[in-house]
Amino acid sequence: MIDFWWSMVYDSRMETRVIEVDPLEDCRRIYKEAAAVLAEGGLVAIPTETVYGLGADAFNPDAVAKVFEVKGRPSFDPLICHLPNGKALKDITEIPEALQPLVDKLVKEFWPGPMTLVLPRKECVPDIVTSGLPTVACRVTSHEVMRAVARALGRPVAAPSANRFGHISPTSAPAVMKELGGSIPLVLDAGACSEGLESTILQPCLDEKGNPAVRVLREGPVTREKLRKICKVVKPGKGSDIEAATPCAPGMLKSHYAPTKPLLLHDPKEPFTPQEGVRYGLITYQGDSPLAAQDCWEEVMPLSPGSGRLAEAAVRLFAVMRAMDECEAVDVIVAEELPKMGLGMAMMDRLNRAAAQRGE
Ligand code: TXA
Ligand code: MG
Repeated sequence: MIDFWWSMVYDSRMETRVIEVDPLEDCRRIYKEAAAVLAEGGLVAIPTETVYGLGADAFNPDAVAKVFEVKGRPSFDPLICHLPNGKALKDITEIPEALQPLVDKLVKEFWPGPMTLVLPRKECVPDIVTSGLPTVACRVTSHEVMRAVARALGRPVAAPSANRFGHISPTSAPAVMKELGGSIPLVLDAGACSEGLESTILQPCLDEKGNPAVRVLREGPVTREKLRKICKVVKPGKGSDIEAATPCAPGMLKSHYAPTKPLLLHDPKEPFTPQEGVRYGLITYQGDSPLAAQDCWEEVMPLSPGSGRLAEAAVRLFAVMRAMDECEAVDVIVAEELPKMGLGMAMMDRLNRAAAQRGE
């Protein structure tokens, strides 16, 4: 189905311009140009600190429809609205009084940054952005380029990750070009993303005692450990919502982040038994595990060579998955299970999805 969509989009190829942008320089002209493309209903790939986003004017339903078309994304999977600053939140959300202090706290602590808040939406947000849900996902990225483009547009930028549906999220402009080159008019290239994993998605809600809490809909760089320091965290599906029905987290489709090759997860301390005639590549955390020492690998790619730092592994995860996917000597990817703490949780979430069979 995905490939069918893609073949339809592929037929209408266009030239994709890539403009380099250094946020430390004066880039107002480039931001204006990108905003003009968006204002005319075009799509622009724009960097954030997590991954590159495929941006559209959030208030233009036709432009947002193009996002779904170009990505081959099902229309039941809603988009995140990127705002220039926290103040703009009130333009698109109706925050229940009981949750306002918690929202203020989260915004103060984690914005601008890799946190997305799912909140009851205002009428002005088109249905196509939220897939008809009564809530809207909002984010203020710490990346100057996305915020500047949203500021120049004067409206929120609706942007999912700039990859074809179900594929690995792009963390650089060349990765965006591989995914969407020829089907969008403009890519803003500000180099590699500093976080490398998509934002943590939170839904403020009430716990069983009626106190404000957050539900983690997607693990990400704002870890549970960080969240617990400032608020209560309830399990997905727990807690109750105010003035909004419980949205499922449609992005939680099982086979998201899929490389084209099969991917298996394996305990780094347990021996791996290769199948005859299959060529394996290993994605290892540090490169010094008993698993990495086996001689059955055609290729070994460490996420954080030697040092074993989760933050470094997170930044490199998608790029390494892509490199392994493109490696001609490898048929099947084996990835070491990572420590299930902090960013390790978010990475394991992505790896588990990549390991799920495509099309499930
Ligand atoms: O870091 C990120 O979040 C990147 C950058 C570009 O901002 N964006 C991103 O977007 O990862 P996307 O579309 O790939 O993932 C957004 C997720 C989807 O899985 C979607 O289901 C979920 O957010 N989402 C959006 N609106 C929602 C809502 N109202 N309720 C629940 N989940 C929602
Ligand atoms: Mg995505």
